[in-house]
Amino acid sequence: MSRDQHRSSGSSATTRRKLLSTGAIGVAAAATAAGALGTPAAAQDTSTGVTAQPSLEPTGEFSGQCAFITGGARGIGYACAEEFARAGANIVLYDIAGNIDTVNYPLATEQDLATTKSNIEALGVKCIAIKGDVRDSIKLEESVARTISEFGRLDILVVNAGVTHVGVLDEFPDEEVQTVIDINLTGAIKTTQAALPIMRRQNAGRIVMISSILGRIGNENFSVYASTKWGLIGFAKSTALAMATHNVTCNSVCPGWVRTKLADNDYILNAVSPENPNFEAVSEAAAASYHPLPMGAYEPVDIARVVKMFCGQATAMVTGEVFDISQGQNARFNA
Ligand SMILES: NC(=O)c1ccc[n+]([C@@H]2O[C@H](COP(=O)([O-])OP(=O)(O)OC[C@H]3O[C@@H](n4cnc5c(N)ncnc54)[C@H](O)[C@@H]3O)[C@@H](O)[C@H]2O)c1
Repeated sequence: MSRDQHRSSGSSATTRRKLLSTGAIGVAAAATAAGALGTPAAAQDTSTGVTAQPSLEPTGEFSGQCAFITGGARGIGYACAEEFARAGANIVLYDIAGNIDTVNYPLATEQDLATTKSNIEALGVKCIAIKGDVRDSIKLEESVARTISEFGRLDILVVNAGVTHVGVLDEFPDEEVQTVIDINLTGAIKTTQAALPIMRRQNAGRIVMISSILGRIGNENFSVYASTKWGLIGFAKSTALAMATHNVTCNSVCPGWVRTKLADNDYILNAVSPENPNFEAVSEAAAASYHPLPMGAYEPVDIARVVKMFCGQATAMVTGEVFDISQGQNARFNA
């Protein structure tokens, strides 16, 4: 079996939508409703009986907040940026926007980053797009400083940038192993380190780390990638403990197979399905044979809605959690 596998089309896509409308999306909708409860209520002055009206500030759940998203130029990061922007947050996109020799498929381009920035701005919020590598602590610190100088705050951190790697374990070149660890794990640590001083000073913040279903189970073909995603959960739980008294939450989200270029590329598809290296076919096969829910791939927005849930009112007192959005595969876990 491959990694975060699977599909959607025709009748199974319809089934999938029906399932999600009562599942993950329903949870996100509940979070949004709870967020609305957090908006200022009309207050009654008991001495006069006059009811003061709430202020006429923008009503989006995240209006005036700022979300910093690594790997934001495309895929799940872009979907998160859109979700938060639609809810009123200003956005910082931090993305390498260029290829890495030791990653075997193309990463986002400068054009992707520029297009995402203009799409986010078209939603009526501000957006800063930064070409930067999560392996570069100095650039991350400069970017956080720029965020504070332009937006005055950093409320939400989505630790999302990541790369994948597949193949036979004893054939992995050292440089490729090191790149996956440096980006997925050390890069996540560096990203978080850059943001923590601000969140501590604010005495507020939400951090969401994008792990994977492969941070919950092993996979013989994705052993290094899986190791980093398991490690990321340990780091997220530790961050939750370190920052709890500073009113900062940190939770992990573990997606299954998602329709992004991390999964839908020749390198991955040839490795997981050499006889038919096609994203739809791989997704369909997983839906039929491996996924408990009768569905293939998630769309990136499905993951983004869960990320948003962990930054809303409903989860204000939730930290150190691990949330699987993995086609029901966690029903197979033993705890
Ligand atoms: N697609 C899936 O099936 C799936 C499943 C589970 C988890 N994930 C995780 O979701 C996250 C987002 O992945 P995606 O599926 O959207 O893939 P993607 O390749 O579409 O997006 C990843 C983004 O990260 C950027 N990036 C890569 N290395 C970087 C670096 N060193 N510094 C800064 N930016 C960098 C890329 O340019 C790209 O824009 C990753 O952490 C991935 O492991 C994906």
